[in-house]
Amino acid sequence: MPTNHYPSLFQPGRIGKVTARNRLVMPPMATNYGGEDGEVTDRMIRYYEERAKGGTGVIIVENAQVDYPTGKNVVRQHRIDNDKFVPGLRLLATAIKRHGAVALQQIHHAGRQTTPAITEGRVPVAPSPVPCRFLGVQPRELTGEEIDTLINKFAEAAARAKLAGFDGIELHGAHGYLIGQFMSPYTNRRVDQYGGTLEARLRFPLEIIRRTREKVGDDFIIGFRFSADEFIPGGLTLEEARQIAARLQQAGVDVLHVSAGIYESMDRVLEPMSYPEGWRVYLAEAIKQAVTIPVITVGVIRTPEMADRIIAEGKADFVAVGRGHITDAEFALKAATGHADRINRCISCNIGCVGNGIFASSIMRCTVNPAVGMEELLGTIPPAPHRVKVVVVGGGPAGMEAARIAAMRGHDVVLFEKSDRLGGQMLLAALPPHKDKINWFTDFLTRELALFRVRVFTGRNVSAEDVLREQPAAVIVATGAVPAVPDIPGVDGPRVFQAWDVLAGTKQVDGQRVVIIGGGQVGCETAEFLAERGKQVTILEMLQDLALDMEPINRLDMLGRFKRLGINGLTGVTATSITDSTVRTIDRHLQTASFPADAVVLAVGATPVNDLALDLAGRVGEVYVIGDAVRPRRIMEAAQEGALAAYSIAEAHKWLSPLSPAHATV
Ligand SMILES: Cc1cc2nc3c(=O)[nH]c(=O)nc-3n(C[C@H](O)[C@H](O)[C@H](O)COP(=O)(O)O)c2cc1C
Repeated sequence: MPTNHYPSLFQPGRIGKVTARNRLVMPPMATNYGGEDGEVTDRMIRYYEERAKGGTGVIIVENAQVDYPTGKNVVRQHRIDNDKFVPGLRLLATAIKRHGAVALQQIHHAGRQTTPAITEGRVPVAPSPVPCRFLGVQPRELTGEEIDTLINKFAEAAARAKLAGFDGIELHGAHGYLIGQFMSPYTNRRVDQYGGTLEARLRFPLEIIRRTREKVGDDFIIGFRFSADEFIPGGLTLEEARQIAARLQQAGVDVLHVSAGIYESMDRVLEPMSYPEGWRVYLAEAIKQAVTIPVITVGVIRTPEMADRIIAEGKADFVAVGRGHITDAEFALKAATGHADRINRCISCNIGCVGNGIFASSIMRCTVNPAVGMEELLGTIPPAPHRVKVVVVGGGPAGMEAARIAAMRGHDVVLFEKSDRLGGQMLLAALPPHKDKINWFTDFLTRELALFRVRVFTGRNVSAEDVLREQPAAVIVATGAVPAVPDIPGVDGPRVFQAWDVLAGTKQVDGQRVVIIGGGQVGCETAEFLAERGKQVTILEMLQDLALDMEPINRLDMLGRFKRLGINGLTGVTATSITDSTVRTIDRHLQTASFPADAVVLAVGATPVNDLALDLAGRVGEVYVIGDAVRPRRIMEAAQEGALAAYSIAEAHKWLSPLSPAHATV
């Protein structure tokens, strides 16, 4: 891929005896796309193939289990612990390599960072019985004999990766999994040959490397991923990590992949929105000074500019873009062809990939990329069977994504938005502290609509008659929602506001003491927004905890800031009335209380707005209602429904009449 853009990023790079076409790496990211028995699935192959086609230099396939089921940490994790998985792995390696990417397979054992629910009832194992605070799991200590068996399992897994046609493996020594548990003084309290001094703590990984090299020979890449700082008291620090790096090089490792954190410091592994871009490049830079083998950096690197600069400044040899490859399979291609502004950047919401994927029994999805996991259907955007006029009403994420895909399919698309800006509730969602990355998605969609010549009319609150005047073949109703009003006496008082209005700045909250009714995500984020402006905030929430509708890592990050801001969150209480100066409540023990309030902010959910769909029913060929207009949910569901509606337009003609013009143009 010769290019004048980002010359440092797009220069070839060597790892061991293999040359990668560029310095961009897709790091391992568990998808939950494995089969019921741990086999590679078509869904997995299509997902990785899209990213290889997208021009990335090195693709490291997500963690595969070397020891089923005790070493498993994701419900649908694929396996490499038995020869019967080699044919599936070969299809995967081939799909990646045939598009010119170097293919590595990460191999992994979870150790203490899993639960019996995932390990199919087995008690998790670890170097020492140190419980995992994040999961609340008590592991069992491994015996010396078991450790020896596990070393062989890693080496055998590596040999299978070679048999399957991968260019190499990456040993997962990062994020507090089994290999990392042996290396870290926080989790390794052993007094035998595997614990104590640094050399003894390294015995497990070094022995894996030695036995692996014996099996795979010198031409096969052995990579090693580790956390250069575990960000936990008593854990690995950068200083020790530099010694480890030198020792790993000496042992014959070909490339070091410098990550950070363990489960107890999860915000360093999978950064929430508040983390700045490239914040942990300094770790790779420090490791690079301790070795001569190539070093990969990773962590919130979202633009080719930053990736290129890291390489140019010699801070790392390769740059891994993780979530940025979920959001955009063509990250490399767009950068290399001078279209970096078309890259759909990850907003670090962690909702689809982490919340829906690895921490749930569902599959990986993505808020900003509905095609993820549905590459078969949505990966490449096929032209429509025939071109029709499409009217989209509503310029939030659902309407914008629908308009984008419909226009990319070749339809003639008009979008009406009643406010003066595109973005809908995304504009509000980006306003609380640390949430500005959401604007990236709004800006991306806005640029794409212009590029694909969607005719956008803002400031137009259209009626059914206005829509019909356009003579559309299909109408997409994405009219969103309005904030719900709880049935509480006093709710219509002069000092009662909706959270949306407060965030948007259309209503001014006077006075010092603010009570927020509703402690879900919107209520909590509005609390932080107001507290940062010097207000004294109390949140009243009916459920047993705050922000339970939030993705866990972003939630903990936000709640961690509450203390400093002095936000008072009360749970298990229901607001019963609002007076001039108080909010009265009752709890589940029927205790009543009264909270002084100069202002009251409501954050109790939203109500769909979809009258237009009813007015249009039967008057247009195709009417789709999507997003919050159906039921208020997150950006992810809105965008997903937008994409699917856009894919459905005019498709039915294909099936209805084989002689129709639609069929003739297919
Ligand atoms: C859904 C998901 C799954 C992940 N699974 C793995 C994994 O299997 N092995 C691994 O070493 N890191 C895993 N990671 C961490 C990523 O490789 C990467 O280090 C992290 O996402 C930070 O980089 P980014 O900001 O570019 O996404 C995962 C990350 C995500 C988002």
